Amino acid sequence: MIVPPDTVSLSDYERHFNDRIDPATRAYIAGAGADGITQRANREAFDRLRLMPRVLRDLSGATARSELFGEVMDYPIILAPMAHHRLVHPDGELATVEAAGLTRSWMTVSTQASVRVDEIARRATVPLWFQLYSQPRREDTLTLARRAEDSGCKALVLTVDAPVNGMRNMEQRAGFRLPPTIAPVNLAGLAADDFRPARPGSPVFQGMLHAAPTWDMVAWLCGETGLPILLKGILNPEDVEPAIATGAGGLIVSNHGGRTLDTLPASIDALPAVAERAARRLPVLMDGGIRRGTDILKALALGADAVLVGQPVLHALAVGGMAGVAHMLTLLQTELEVAMALTGRPTLPDIDRSVIFGT
Ligand code: FNR
Ligand code: LAC
Repeated sequence: MIVPPDTVSLSDYERHFNDRIDPATRAYIAGAGADGITQRANREAFDRLRLMPRVLRDLSGATARSELFGEVMDYPIILAPMAHHRLVHPDGELATVEAAGLTRSWMTVSTQASVRVDEIARRATVPLWFQLYSQPRREDTLTLARRAEDSGCKALVLTVDAPVNGMRNMEQRAGFRLPPTIAPVNLAGLAADDFRPARPGSPVFQGMLHAAPTWDMVAWLCGETGLPILLKGILNPEDVEPAIATGAGGLIVSNHGGRTLDTLPASIDALPAVAERAARRLPVLMDGGIRRGTDILKALALGADAVLVGQPVLHALAVGGMAGVAHMLTLLQTELEVAMALTGRPTLPDIDRSVIFGT
């Protein structure tokens, strides 16, 4: 796999991806809910924000390094959990985790990964997190959490914004089906999705919601594991206190990349109120629409400790395999350094709200 030489930004990876991949897979990965309003908003909101530079500052010793859960993080960029990496490359998550290691980027493995978490962990040279979808039976949720812990994962990411799928009209129109060669292998042997109470009524309310996590479940899980648990899919500042009260270790401000409920606000627009309410009592991360180093700078300015990157990882994996993902992550790291230098912010703590023009 050769990355075309004109691939100099994440949007170039997306363009090459769109040229190469079959329409149904493309529609699944783009995956916007309903009319795509939230997914577009994620980008439009970043583009609306303008940066205010500071010049002539001393930039010697500049670094994008920080610390999270007691570990040094070289860049505040984490790979977001995404299902089925093997859809776009035969090595799937094994290629991704190698690219993460080469670029010193932390990675989150999805419950729906196409490779087993212990196999991915064996190739990891950087902190790995495991994303949990709560299962219809608590013991299955615990089995997944324990496997992640035993594999050496450093944190659990409990996704709380998708107890049911959004209206994936894009995917439906394209008729996407998971190929028979790809499976969510981490769920093998668990009751998972075939658990359906035989009650009449709406398939949504009587079916999948059975596995929907609740605050009780979060408190229970926090008591069962020593790993920090980040709640992914927080947009409402009212959810911050209950999160802290139940023992959550971190928050991820996210609208699932616009894949769940359409017309939710852009993540970057929701971030400031959540970060303010959290008031540094626990780390706040964000994802949704990160495509440039300047987007990362804006997210940090508005209260994020780090960001997660979703779709571009799969675009780069499809176009260039392991090397593509490593290159894509290097582009983002370089862009962040350039943005920090040109706004006169030599370290992450120097990135405050005043870097946003008009604030
Ligand atoms: C996702 N996302 C996701 N989130 C999650 O918690 N568990 C999962 O299994 C998946 N799977 C998944 C598959 C695909 C193909 C995509 C594109 C996304 C959501 C993901 O973690 C993240 O929230 C968004 O992708 C962030 O937005 P951007 O960076 O894609 O704009
Ligand atoms: C998705 C699910 C797997 O967004 O979270 O496709």
